[in-house]
Amino acid sequence: MSLYDQAHIRNFYNEYAERETARWDKSIIEQVKLHVHQHYLHQHLKQKDSILELGAGSGVFTELLTQYTSNLTVTDLSPVQLKLNKEKANKDNYAHRIKNWALADICDLSKFKNNSFDKVVCYGGPLSYVFDQKIKGLTEIKRVLKPNGLAFIGVMNLWGTVNEYLNKIILPVPKSDNEKVMATGNLHPSSFTASDHHCHMFTAEELKNDLEKVGFRLLTISASNCLSVSRQKEVEAIRNSREKWEYFLDLELRACQSTGMVESGTHLIAIVQKKRN
Ligand SMILES: C[S@@+](CC[C@H](N)C(=O)[O-])C[C@H]1O[C@@H](n2cnc3c(N)ncnc32)[C@H](O)[C@@H]1O
Repeated sequence: MSLYDQAHIRNFYNEYAERETARWDKSIIEQVKLHVHQHYLHQHLKQKDSILELGAGSGVFTELLTQYTSNLTVTDLSPVQLKLNKEKANKDNYAHRIKNWALADICDLSKFKNNSFDKVVCYGGPLSYVFDQKIKGLTEIKRVLKPNGLAFIGVMNLWGTVNEYLNKIILPVPKSDNEKVMATGNLHPSSFTASDHHCHMFTAEELKNDLEKVGFRLLTISASNCLSVSRQKEVEAIRNSREKWEYFLDLELRACQSTGMVESGTHLIAIVQKKRN
């Protein structure tokens, strides 16, 4: 039986509601992570691209995507998140740049034709929520992309989560429970009962293998953050100087891509291309 419980994830995000919107504003470290995610969009998106956003949530990335195109389809599994996405677009005046909002599970994109998007953006971990259905999700992403099209994929990272939340993990969680999570990468009732947030945390090697299995060309793999992990005060101090801040962000982007550091942050980001045939 599959570990992916669609109803649980949908309900989780329906109930999570506005808290999802606040996710990126929690601290300066989240702002650094946001910068890293956005960097890759700015690097690769082109004006007038046709873009499909998956697991869009309340729309932190949606707004950025509308700077590039009005050929944008915004989707999510959760009707509440999709409604919040629409409300934000109306409030912040970019709704006219969105072609369509639709409910969709990344494992079933059957409402979209083969080869129909230049770019697919799947940031914030939708692939982590589908557990053993991840290859199905990746195959669907590849199917709807045009040849040479790019996908931006963000998943939760196992060692990076330990790196960022060491005290929250090692002090309250018994070793035997934690070892089940480390062995499977799964926050799921089958391995760990203490969290209602079910997700799979990837290693970089696992993600690379999965992308290869589906036939994607890997252009970039990056951590969501690295130098900034657990350094809130230091990062706040750097923020006081514009020049130092810009240099820090540049170093952070480079560190996130370095082989030894790619598993430092809570998320892994992969930019992949659909090969021509
Ligand atoms: C952590 S939020 C990320 C939102 C936004 N992309 C961001 O990065 O800020 C995860 C989103 O993925 C959606 N989601 C979870 N599983 C999904 C699935 N199987 N298919 C599509 N969306 C999914 C959730 O409803 C939620 O809105």
